Amino acid sequence: MSDFSYDPFDPAVMADPLPYYRVLRDEHPVYYLPKWDTYALSRFSDIWDALRITDGTFVASEGTLPSAAVLQRHNSGPVADPPLHPMPFHANFDSPVYESVRRCTSSPFRPRSAAGWAERIRTLANERLDELLPRGTFDLTQDYGGHVAAAMVCEFLGLPVELASEVLAAVNAGSLAQPGEGVEVANSRPGFLSYLTPIVERRRAEGADGSVPIADSLINFVLPDGSTLSDSEAATQMLGVFIGGTETVPKVTAAGLWQLAEHPDQLAAVRADLEHNVPIAREEILRYTAPAQWFARTVRRPYMIHGTTIQPGQRVITLLASAARDEREYPNPDAFIWNRPIERLLSFGHGQHFCLGVHVARLEVTILMQEWFRRVSDYRILSESASRPPSSFQWGWNSVPVDVHAEGG
Ligand code: HEM
Repeated sequence: MSDFSYDPFDPAVMADPLPYYRVLRDEHPVYYLPKWDTYALSRFSDIWDALRITDGTFVASEGTLPSAAVLQRHNSGPVADPPLHPMPFHANFDSPVYESVRRCTSSPFRPRSAAGWAERIRTLANERLDELLPRGTFDLTQDYGGHVAAAMVCEFLGLPVELASEVLAAVNAGSLAQPGEGVEVANSRPGFLSYLTPIVERRRAEGADGSVPIADSLINFVLPDGSTLSDSEAATQMLGVFIGGTETVPKVTAAGLWQLAEHPDQLAAVRADLEHNVPIAREEILRYTAPAQWFARTVRRPYMIHGTTIQPGQRVITLLASAARDEREYPNPDAFIWNRPIERLLSFGHGQHFCLGVHVARLEVTILMQEWFRRVSDYRILSESASRPPSSFQWGWNSVPVDVHAEGG
């Protein structure tokens, strides 16, 4: 690392970014990437402080996850919000449009609504275990958590649960990043929208009376200029739930069960009181394994940090995965310690774009783990066959084969 350079789309970084993050945090906390006219922030406190600013200094007018094709265009000043129509994903707007559209998609995820999903998640988890445990060997990420998370996304959005496997496969394919390019989410959208647009068409025909909350709120939503959303515009606003709800929970759950299997003393401690200890272990699992590497913002007003002024039109990428390993926030950060004190966490982001599904996500991870431990007395991760594809975005364990010695229960 003597000739240090960092580029989120560099294949070596995508294969293992952690050593780069350490150097960034220690030596270049505000690292400039001339090719992308972008600054990388890598320390926990710097990211926490930047993301909490919600006065329009940071906007996502170029998307929260811009590809290389977007970043290679350099701006000569502030980037305006996109036109209202055709409306892109609402995260690209600043207040108040951003919040008002986000509110349309939020009702199933508010704390009380989220808690109401617990029994459904538990049932789905046990149905999966009924099917998987007799097989003996299967994929912990895809076959267990993946299927349950995708089935929940179908329920949130008003799709038949039978489509869960297809939804899971579509989202997984869309997250694969090419070296040098990043995630081309836009390219996967036609495939995603082929699931989402028909929901809106059907609900419009049925009268959108609120019984399918997300689609119906989007159909009935009136913009500040008095216009409404077309079917494909409304469907586009569902992409966050479609993608975010499907891809992260399974990777976090599988990676967490793997960490615990590698630390038998910690596993025994968690098993000793599932009700109380799984939620504690879950927070360390979220810190240690959350797969999203970074999210971007475009700066709209000058922002000074560590003596550098970032100018309007330039971007920052907030390296959340580096923040999670920042020794300034977490002592001995590369060690997995199930009950370490965690006062602040950036795994769900912070501020304006804070994860919409945070309560459901925590609930899903908790229940998937609790039901696993109730039904499985012993398991072995087949680590040599596990895979974590290189990615600038979701660097997570896509496949974690496990052997459960043909348990039933
Ligand atoms: C352990 C699981 C999860 C993790 C670690 C996670 C993490 C994140 C993070 C870091 C962001 C912030 C992005 C930014 O700052 O630009 C985010 C946003 C988002 N998440 Fe999650 N997420 C998880 C699960 C979910 C679930 C289950 C859902 C929905 C059911 C969901 C829906 C969303 C949406 C819609 C956004 C976009 C928010 C916005 O820009 O308005 N996520 N998530």
